[in-house]
Amino acid sequence: MKLQHLIDFNDITTDEYDELCRLASDIINAPHRYSAACSGRVMATLFYEPSTRTQLSFQTAMLRLGGTVIGFADPNSSSVAKGESLRDTVKIISGYADIGVIRNPMEGAAFAASLYSGIPFINAGDGRHLHPTQTMTDMFTIKREKGRYEGLNIGLCGDLKNGRTVHSLLRAFTRYNGNRFFLISTKELRVPDYILNEFSGSDNEIIMTDNMEEVIDGLDILYMTRIQRERFGSEADYRRQSGIYVLTPDKLKSAKPDLTIMHPLPKVDEIAYEVDDDPRSRYFEQAENGMYIRMALILSLIEGNPQRRSSRRAYPLPTRRFCSNPICVSNHEHYLPEMTKTVGGELVCAYCDYKII
Ligand code: CP
Repeated sequence: MKLQHLIDFNDITTDEYDELCRLASDIINAPHRYSAACSGRVMATLFYEPSTRTQLSFQTAMLRLGGTVIGFADPNSSSVAKGESLRDTVKIISGYADIGVIRNPMEGAAFAASLYSGIPFINAGDGRHLHPTQTMTDMFTIKREKGRYEGLNIGLCGDLKNGRTVHSLLRAFTRYNGNRFFLISTKELRVPDYILNEFSGSDNEIIMTDNMEEVIDGLDILYMTRIQRERFGSEADYRRQSGIYVLTPDKLKSAKPDLTIMHPLPKVDEIAYEVDDDPRSRYFEQAENGMYIRMALILSLIEGNPQRRSSRRAYPLPTRRFCSNPICVSNHEHYLPEMTKTVGGELVCAYCDYKII
């Protein structure tokens, strides 16, 4: 794979993604063939936000490939707590490791890290923005469960505004056609326009509803999400949104026998415990699939980037704050250069995709 960094699922072509899925399937079928594939290589995991699945599946993936792992799970245990910049942390890690994985609450942080890195960097989640390896996990699970990415009725339910896994998944599906997406949420937690705009020109249908019961019988896939408490301004705002969508055995009575129930996890109260025992629930298998697709990704990035590159690239210092998103990394790491791009005819921030106004 020619790719240097994986920041957005759309950084890879459909052919490259299909190749990753084939590699992940081969790893599942013949793990012994890959048990020393990354021997002598080091992966650094920089987690500035809590994580169970992403962090541990990346770490396990590298260990199962015969490599080793360094990193932190709490930035307060690193020199970040002393005020070290993201840029300096990344430059240091580039001298120690062969591949880096970063999760950070600031949107665009992984892209910012990639600007200063001499090694491949993988986005393990940046604020509400993107979570591309969760998307790979989700797409790989859909392929294993349904055998296709087209002609599906897909329900996404819950916090569609703050759920970065939803944003990345929808973005990935813009390259396929013939699907109907039922976006099930309250009006306050709808998918942001910048994601919906990316569907213009694709042959997919978007249906917005606030009623899960009305659409559940037609779904092939139901992707549940938790209400993201940590992204709300106040506990009262969160409480107004929590507990509205809860998947129960009763609601599943009208669903198809071959419905696939997915969830990026962690789940809180949006799926009743009894649903875990329903054979249509595939979220624990989905989490395991994530380890195999991450093994394939690590291996491909390391094989495609055998040499470290120079991390001495220079960028002009910005002359103004150009992004209006308060949690955009460019508004916190003030040395970052002004970078914009055009998406669907609109000028957006290259770090966080916010429209430039
Ligand atoms: N799905 C997911 O990103 O889980 P974690 O937050 O536990 O990594």
